[in-house]
Amino acid sequence: MAIVRLKKDLDVCIQFQLRSGEKAWVRRMRESDLEEVHEMECILFDDPWSFDNFRYEVVRSAVSWPLIAETEYEIIGYAVPWFVTDEMHLANIASSPLYQRQGIAAKLVIVMLDEAMRRSIRIVYLEVRPTNKAAISLYKTFGFETLGIRRRYYRNGENAILMQRFLPEQSSNLFLAD
Ligand SMILES: CC(C)(COP(=O)(O)OP(=O)(O)OC[C@H]1O[C@@H](n2cnc3c(N)ncnc32)[C@H](O)[C@@H]1OP(=O)(O)O)[C@@H](O)C(=O)NCCC(=O)NCCS
Repeated sequence: MAIVRLKKDLDVCIQFQLRSGEKAWVRRMRESDLEEVHEMECILFDDPWSFDNFRYEVVRSAVSWPLIAETEYEIIGYAVPWFVTDEMHLANIASSPLYQRQGIAAKLVIVMLDEAMRRSIRIVYLEVRPTNKAAISLYKTFGFETLGIRRRYYRNGENAILMQRFLPEQSSNLFLAD
């Protein structure tokens, strides 16, 4: 699947094709996306982030760099990385139930890791439910390894698996060609 980096439109990070041939792209999340993103969040998670959680990430947070994947017609995925000093934390990622297994989350991860490399970040952390086989499988394909367990991390008391991935010491070009 061809990935094109679009330098001219600073808002769009990469463009790619879905299995249907439909064009899709990843860009920075905007305040006008929030309703659609939150609707998807409520469908996908038992303990969804609130609308205001997302709004904070887009409008206020100094460390957040939220992204969406979309087609011409709709938002098909989103992700929220936090870049804090020399670490990246993957706080949220999801793709639309109608579009799963088409490489959307993988594109979002590629864009986030690429940005992390550009910021000279050396380590990426995330938490995932032990029961979330799809997400664990996604993270393993990107070289994430289990670091430990965070006890009673989720609101329902479920533990989280803490995963990490080191990034090499180079400034760019690991994931996306310039
Ligand atoms: C996890 C999730 C984000 C994956 O999104 P996606 O767009 O379907 O993932 P991709 O198509 O990019 O998959 C990339 C790779 O991840 C792995 N993967 C993704 N979904 C998988 C599944 N259901 N079962 C097994 N492996 C899976 C595969 O290795 C896949 O590569 P392949 O299709 O070539 O085999 C999606 O299932 C989702 O939104 N789940 C609900 C929200 C969620 O749990 N988010 C993660 C919170 S930690």
